[in-house]
Amino acid sequence: MKTRITELFGIRHPIIQGGMHYVSFAELAAAVSNAGGLGIITALTQKTPADLAREIARCREMTDRPFGVNLTFLPTVHAVDYPGYVAAIIEGGVRIVETAGRSPEPVMPALKDAGVRVIHKCTSVRHALKAEAIGCDAASVDGFECGGHPGEDDIPNMILLPRAAEELKIPFVASGGMADARSLVASLALGADGINMGTRFIATVEAPVHDNVKQAIVAATELDTRLVMRPLRNTERVLNNAAVERLLEKEVSMGSELQFEDIIEEVVGVYPRVMTEGQVDAGVWSCGMVAGLIHDIPTCQALLDSIMADAEGIIRKRLEDLLG
Ligand SMILES: Cc1cc2nc3c(=O)[nH]c(=O)nc-3n(C[C@H](O)[C@H](O)[C@H](O)COP(=O)(O)O)c2cc1C
Repeated sequence: MKTRITELFGIRHPIIQGGMHYVSFAELAAAVSNAGGLGIITALTQKTPADLAREIARCREMTDRPFGVNLTFLPTVHAVDYPGYVAAIIEGGVRIVETAGRSPEPVMPALKDAGVRVIHKCTSVRHALKAEAIGCDAASVDGFECGGHPGEDDIPNMILLPRAAEELKIPFVASGGMADARSLVASLALGADGINMGTRFIATVEAPVHDNVKQAIVAATELDTRLVMRPLRNTERVLNNAAVERLLEKEVSMGSELQFEDIIEEVVGVYPRVMTEGQVDAGVWSCGMVAGLIHDIPTCQALLDSIMADAEGIIRKRLEDLLG
């Protein structure tokens, strides 16, 4: 399948694995890229730019296909050395960067001068238009369904994607709620040039996370996510657990008094405990509603192969037959 996204990134299938904190290590990114998609390493999971440089080198040993690095601009407890991470990306020869959170404008000159292609993850049409205006090559349009940070507008992909198609000139992928061939074909019909998946890629053989996390996603239904941190305007969709319920009780009881300091126990330092040690109730961690569509733990190759084969079946058979 050829789309503006496969052309832009030089990949076989229009499928991207979004950057995920403590999930998107070299093992996963390489597995996705080797399977014909675009794998992405998460920069900030690496404690220093030097660690990121090593992770990029490790990924290059595992694949000769294109892969990318995610740079997330969200509130963090410690100041982040963004110029250092950008330098590690450029010096590591990475040609694709996925940005997310706040506008990537400050890092654009350095990335563009180095010939890096930038795909910015946005949760609204206005942010996607801003990304286009500042020179991003593509957008990843993240609907309200998505795992992680859906923004504050709450527009699901059934509306957001065709709205993006109405306004954007740059290519874009549909993100949030994507799991299979149905997601891909529907996204193409709505005007997208491919899909970005997060939660689906955690439940794969190669995702270097504890098996408890994969099993929790397989066991979860579409009813099992919650939105936290809305009062702080830093909304995150997470898998429900005891820590999430404790945090939500604080949000209700403290109302507008709630400060980040009040929820540190549920939020800070959680990812290594969940993803590496498998303590899935240790705190809040991102997960999409799409968990309800995830019933197995395939290899990335099997996942991408089945998406592409089934997509062809839907397009050539189911949709064609409807025309009589
Ligand atoms: C566990 C987890 C961690 C994530 N961490 C990040 C991150 O650090 N930076 C980022 O830009 N997006 C992050 N995301 C969002 C994903 O890259 C992707 O946009 C999102 O998962 C898409 O929605 P889906 O889960 O419905 O596929 C994370 C998602 C999950 C599930």
